[in-house]
Amino acid sequence: MTIHSTARSPSPMSADTPHLSVVQKEAHATLSGVTRYFQKSDSKELFHALGPIDLTLHKGEFFSVVGPSGCGKSTLLDTLSGLATPTDGAVLFEGREIKGVPDGVGVVFQEDASFPWLNVRDNISFALRMAGMDGAEVQRRVDYALAFMGLKDFARAYPAQLSGGMRQRVCIARTLVQQPRLILLDEPFGALDQQTRLLMGDELLRLWRETSATVLLITHALDEAAMLSDRVGVMSSRPGLFIDIVETGWERTRDSRIVSTPRFGEVNARLWEKLRVESLKVMGAAHGH
Ligand SMILES: Nc1ncnc2c1ncn2[C@@H]1O[C@H](COP(=O)(O)OP(=O)(O)OP(=O)(O)O)[C@@H](O)[C@H]1O
Ligand SMILES: [Mg+2]
Repeated sequence: MTIHSTARSPSPMSADTPHLSVVQKEAHATLSGVTRYFQKSDSKELFHALGPIDLTLHKGEFFSVVGPSGCGKSTLLDTLSGLATPTDGAVLFEGREIKGVPDGVGVVFQEDASFPWLNVRDNISFALRMAGMDGAEVQRRVDYALAFMGLKDFARAYPAQLSGGMRQRVCIARTLVQQPRLILLDEPFGALDQQTRLLMGDELLRLWRETSATVLLITHALDEAAMLSDRVGVMSSRPGLFIDIVETGWERTRDSRIVSTPRFGEVNARLWEKLRVESLKVMGAAHGH
């Protein structure tokens, strides 16, 4: 197979799946020249964390971001979610500049963000109730999310009574009930074992297919990125820039079984080739080279 970079080949899927490439071309979120500096705590100096980044997420695509630790991935997600404002540049969602968390954007954080004092049902309905949504609609959405995420039998359980994978499902369900059109996930399966991660990946693919949402997933696991995504953006060491964007060419109906295909190995190898160099830079800096 050939693995395409969008920079060189804008529509590698068009030969056999023209309809898909048309669907994937509509811009959903756009970052233009997005740069982030932080104030250093011990001096007046500024710390360059990210960018400038130019990136367009296409409507309905599954885009993953990999990059060395500390390169600015979470900073990128914060900017895209409207939780943080870039120092420079602009972020558009559905054609409008983002100011604060826009309606239609849902975030799943790396850490388990469920409320330990609420049961599963109340955790999932929390944001809807806070927003003053009609009770019957809340119930309808929560019932759907419980069934979709396989949590129906655990609606009355408390987070402490669940496994790590199930708690993460609760967090995804909390986002799902808000019916986001853009879902941002920051290393959501980081703490899970390999086989649970693969199965959670399948759940995420099912959710992506069923909701038609655009997904941006940050992950440190190259195999996860390679398996789940339409495109994978590889970031450089800090300040993070996209050094490669790999198009996988997977069918929309894919699942974790593609990990046994030769094509998967090739995508993985391409990602690692780029990331290895960047990760060595970070390690070299840590060892004073
Ligand atoms: N609020 C902040 N104030 C100062 N520096 C920050 C702040 N947030 C992040 N940074 C710095 O910016 C850089 C990028 O951080 P970020 O959390 O985006 O990295 P990351 O790629 O998500 O890393 P990881 O893979 O370890 O999660 C880091 O060097 C971090 O120390
Ligand atoms: Mg991070």
